Amino acid sequence: MTAGFNSTDSFKKLKNAAENIKQFHLRQLFVENPNRAEQLSLKTEHFYFDCSRQLVTKETIALLVKLANEMELKSKIDAMFNGEKINATEGRSVLHAALRDANPRPVIKEVLDHVKTFSKEILSGTKTGVTGKKFKNIVSIGIGGSCLGPEYLATALRPYAQPGMNLIFIANVDGADFTEKTAGLDTADTLIIIVSKTFTTAETMKNAATAKAWLLKGLNNHPEAIKKHFVAVSTAADKVSAFGIDPANMFGFWDWVGGRFSSSSAVGALPLALYLGYDNFAQILQGANWLDRHFQSSPFENNLPILSALLDIWNINFLGYETRALLPYAQGLAKLPAHTQQVEMESNGKSVDISGQPLYFPTGEIVFGEPGTNGQHSFYQLIHQGTQIIPCDFIGFVKPQYEIGVNSATEVNHHLELMTNFLAQPDALAFGKEDSNKAKNFPGNRPSSSLLLDKLTPFSAGLLLAWTEHRATVKGFIWGINSFDQFGVELGKVLGVEQRRLMLEFNATGILNTQGLNASTEQLLKLILIDNLNP
Ligand code: F6P
Repeated sequence: MTAGFNSTDSFKKLKNAAENIKQFHLRQLFVENPNRAEQLSLKTEHFYFDCSRQLVTKETIALLVKLANEMELKSKIDAMFNGEKINATEGRSVLHAALRDANPRPVIKEVLDHVKTFSKEILSGTKTGVTGKKFKNIVSIGIGGSCLGPEYLATALRPYAQPGMNLIFIANVDGADFTEKTAGLDTADTLIIIVSKTFTTAETMKNAATAKAWLLKGLNNHPEAIKKHFVAVSTAADKVSAFGIDPANMFGFWDWVGGRFSSSSAVGALPLALYLGYDNFAQILQGANWLDRHFQSSPFENNLPILSALLDIWNINFLGYETRALLPYAQGLAKLPAHTQQVEMESNGKSVDISGQPLYFPTGEIVFGEPGTNGQHSFYQLIHQGTQIIPCDFIGFVKPQYEIGVNSATEVNHHLELMTNFLAQPDALAFGKEDSNKAKNFPGNRPSSSLLLDKLTPFSAGLLLAWTEHRATVKGFIWGINSFDQFGVELGKVLGVEQRRLMLEFNATGILNTQGLNASTEQLLKLILIDNLNP
C-alpha cells in the first residue's frame, strides 16, 4: 500500500529542504550558479518552460520526483489512461485524454463525425433556420464545465472565427446574462445549444426554458422552431428528448468524461466547430494530444504538467504558499484563469483522501489571474510588496495574434511592448530592488515560472488545455485524493431547492412559512419577498 503523502520519506526530506532554501535569496541563487536558467528550464519544439525563478534547486526537483515516485504517480497515470475506474466515489473511469487520440475509438469518432457534418451544413448554409436564413449566431447555454473550457478556447481563438459567425456563452441564472447577451440577436439566424452533462442543472434548465420561449416568440411559434434551432450536448438522451430537442440534433458524451475535463468532447467540439470550423477544432485536439503524449512519455523532471504540479506542491505544502496567480501575457487567454480555477479548485478542493480518511496537509490551491498587463495596474502591488507570497505563472508568446504598430529603432510594436512586461515582471518579483525608503523597497525572492510558446493558435490553445488538466490531476494523484468528484457543490444545490419550495408556496398562498429556517436566512428571505429594502 502507498504511504500517505505526509508520511513518505521524501516528505520529511522536503520539509528540511524548505527550511534550507529559506536561507537563500533568488539573487544569491542566480549569482552562485550561472547555469541556473539552463538547468531549471525545459525546451521542446512547442514550448519553453523556465522555473529558475522558483525557490528551488536541482536537488529540490530530484526530491520532488522521489516524492512522486513514492506516491506511485506513474502507475496512477497509467491506470487513468488504461480506463481503470479511478474515480472511485462515482465508480467511473477518467478518459478525457482518449477524446483526442489520433485514432479515436469508434464511439468517439462517431460523435466527432456528427459534429463535422453538422457544422459543415450550418457553416455552408445547407442547414438553415425556419425562415431559410443562414445561422450566424450560436448561443451556448451551459455552466461550469459545460461553459468555461469552451469559452476559454473560443476567446483564445477569435482570430480563427469563421466569417460572420458569433459565439455567445450564457451561464448565469441571473436574467441579466440572458437579457444582455440575446439583446439585438435575430432569432431567425440564431442556433441554441443546450450543454449539460446531466441535463438537470438548475441554472441551465432555467436559461434553456427562457431561450425556448424567446425563440418561439421571435419565430411566431413556428412548429419547427425547436427542431431547427435547438441542439443539445449531453449524456442524458431521455431528458434531451423530453425537452423537445430532435434526437438527431443531440451530441452525446459519456460518464467517463468529467464536466471540467469535457472541452475535448462534444461539449467543446460542437460550439467551437460551429464558430471556428471543424478543422480548427481538430487542431485543438491535436495540440492537446501532443501534450498528452509528452505527459505519458517524458521523465518527470522534463515533463511540463508533472514539473509544474511538483512546483505547486513545493509551494503549497513545503513553503506554505497556497495561492497561485495565473498571468497570461495574451489578451486571448483572458478566460484561461477562470477555466483553471474550476479545474484546480473543483478537482482538488478536498479534505479527505481517496479512501475517505481526513487529511492533515493542505490540498488544492486558490487560483486567480488576469491577462497582463491589466493585472499590473490592479493586484500586482500585493504580489510585489504584500505580506503574502503568491507564486506566479507567466505565459507569453513569441508571435502576436495581431501585428499592430511599428517596430523600429525608435519604437517597439504592441507585441514587443507587451513582452517587455512579460520579461520585466518576473525579474522584479525575483530580484526586487533595495531602497532605504521602506515604502519603496522591493524585497524580491518571490517565485514565478515563465512559459513561452510560439503563437496562440488552435494547436497551442489545445496544448494549454491539456497542461491545465494534467497539472491538476497530478497533484491529486500525489496528494492521494480523488480529483474527479465534486460533492462539495451539492449541499448548496439542495438548500436552494428548499428555498425554491418556500417561494413557490408563498407565490401560491401569500403565506411565507419560515418554520425551521435559521434567523439569518429568515430575515433575508423576508426582505426579498415581503418587506423589501426600499418599498
Ligand atoms: O455544480 C457543479 C457542476 O456539477 C460542475 O461539476 C459541472 O461542470 C457543472 O455543474 C455543470 O453540470 P452539467 O454539465 O451537468 O449541467
